[in-house]
Amino acid sequence: MPLYHQLGDIPHKRHTQFRDEEGNLYREELKSTYGFNNITSLLYHIHAPTVSTKVEGEVLPEPEAWDEKIRHHHLRTEDIPVHGDITSGRIPLMFNQDVTISVCRPEQSMDDFYRNGDCDEVIFVHDGSGELKSPYGKLEFHKGDYIVIPRGITYNMSLNSDNSRLLIFESQWPINTPKRYRNEHGQLLEHSPFCERDLRRPKYMEPRVETGEFHIRVKARNRITTFVLDHHPFDVVGWDGYFYPWIFNIDDFEPITGRIHQPPPVHQTFETEQFVICSFVPRLFDYHPKSIPAPYFHHNVDSDEIIYYVEGDFMSREGVERSSITYHPGNVPHGPQPGKTEASIGKERTDELAVMLDTFRPLYLTKQSQELDDPDYPYSWVD
Ligand SMILES: [Fe+2]
Repeated sequence: MPLYHQLGDIPHKRHTQFRDEEGNLYREELKSTYGFNNITSLLYHIHAPTVSTKVEGEVLPEPEAWDEKIRHHHLRTEDIPVHGDITSGRIPLMFNQDVTISVCRPEQSMDDFYRNGDCDEVIFVHDGSGELKSPYGKLEFHKGDYIVIPRGITYNMSLNSDNSRLLIFESQWPINTPKRYRNEHGQLLEHSPFCERDLRRPKYMEPRVETGEFHIRVKARNRITTFVLDHHPFDVVGWDGYFYPWIFNIDDFEPITGRIHQPPPVHQTFETEQFVICSFVPRLFDYHPKSIPAPYFHHNVDSDEIIYYVEGDFMSREGVERSSITYHPGNVPHGPQPGKTEASIGKERTDELAVMLDTFRPLYLTKQSQELDDPDYPYSWVD
């Protein structure tokens, strides 16, 4: 996150003595990325962050690919089971070496702590609200939020209700705002569809001074390793830096429109080395007198595309419903279904809300996606 933030108490000079009222040294921890060459934060703990009294592990099953052929897919996720918490209840639907896409309807709040050791997480909140707590403080979340949690951050997520619905991206690459919207100092530029005011950063939380038994599940290298701590992991009295969890709400995305159909990059919200995430939000349609608001047929020959339908009628798709996911692999062209192009002409606005992911390397569907698949979808372009 290219935005400096500071909470709590920190010493005037980094890497110097910083003590509590009884003279005990606080334990300074550097959270660093790309060695020491990208964003970092410095945290000041009551206890050394290395202390654990027990380490246990389990190997996770490898994701199993399912697809007998390369074709378009439509997955209906509305009725997936309510299960687990926001970490254990994830149902992975697609993956490649860069990203795993899951849906989740958690049954309960987390009663322990979790850390993704391999991946940055983007959690899109379709339904529900709650609070994300971490050593960096607390972040309230609600419908429409993209919660960005960089790898290596221990967190606990609580829910306010039992009807939460989440779309989750686990990324092997750091999640960034699009580079073309930032100046050389990292500030978002005037033509960016959102700015720093739209980004929510952690709020101060009193350090937890508790001893006992605290379990942190660390997901990394296809394993869950549980570290048992004898102190509460949120024992930070202060921190500063650029590395922390943050939130952007899809309703704060200001759409870019034009006289003729605007291409998907105008919807771009996040970028990584190997995929982008875009937000389709309610907006005015194109205003050239002969414009066609529906997209043209397109064949992005080196990108796979998934769209998660959040709310509203999607202008180019027939048969999709709330929480549907369409998957259009790069090997096959796609576009509006019969009648959708004509029906879009003359329309002035759309109320569609959707999240799109474009990957630059092929995605694979998981076994879990098979039972959600609409087998007729590839033939939905037949007039
Ligand atoms: Fe598309």
